Amino acid sequence: MKVIIAKDYEDGARKAADIIEKIVRENPECTLGLATGSSPVGMYKELARRCREEGLDFSKVHSVNLDEYVGLEGTHDQSYRYFMNTNLFDHINIDKANTHVPNGLATDFEAAAAEYEDGIEADGGIDIQVLGIGSDGHIGFNEPATSLVSRTHVQTLMLQTRLDNARLFFGGKLDEVPTRAITMGTGTVLDSRTAILMAFGKGKAPAIAGAVEGAISHMNQASALQMHRDAKFFIDEDAASLLKNVDFYKAVYADSDLRSLEA
Ligand code: GLP
Repeated sequence: MKVIIAKDYEDGARKAADIIEKIVRENPECTLGLATGSSPVGMYKELARRCREEGLDFSKVHSVNLDEYVGLEGTHDQSYRYFMNTNLFDHINIDKANTHVPNGLATDFEAAAAEYEDGIEADGGIDIQVLGIGSDGHIGFNEPATSLVSRTHVQTLMLQTRLDNARLFFGGKLDEVPTRAITMGTGTVLDSRTAILMAFGKGKAPAIAGAVEGAISHMNQASALQMHRDAKFFIDEDAASLLKNVDFYKAVYADSDLRSLEA
């Protein structure tokens, strides 16, 4: 696990975009695992700019998203399909037919989950998985005590998660936040070839401390990334504020360019 402490949100967004750009340029047919939430939005803007101004080509790229609320249509302005269209897909030259978000309206969720896993496999697996982190350490919508080897499944959301998401996205209306979501499992995430987790702000500091320096535990799902073959955390000073080894991470990774990040 590499911990990159960015100067600020924009710096973190650019550094994370560098990693994605490298993968897309090396393999134009790669599969990107994508996330919703406020953390990756700046990176998506930067990728859209690079597509527009620097010819970064997404025409053959496939994508799979982490999760979707149960019960929301893709046209609902709080659905994750809508989020991805408006924050990324509408601004890059990706073929929307190659973009996949779990089906929150499935009638048979077990079948939908198995189909989603099959789709990832058919795409050749996930080359890079983008992640945010919930205040309880969740990745995707894998809440505390979910198996660390879980695959795509339906998850009941913790009240805190619904409160966080109501505050950020549903205009504060808790009643409108669905109680369940269909999410890739933490095991699905662990199978990705590279994983980048983005977190900014003091509110994320306890979850980041648990994920990076705590014991691996299903009570902080992101801590499972300690077992990932290539996980990089892009965080700001505030999100890093409860880490013990900040000086070490800064000395080794903070000003690294892409080459040394791979060392
Ligand atoms: C939601 C999403 C997660 C995301 C988290 C944090 O719960 N399902 O994938 O990481 O929110 O969101 P934010 O980046 O807005 O803090």
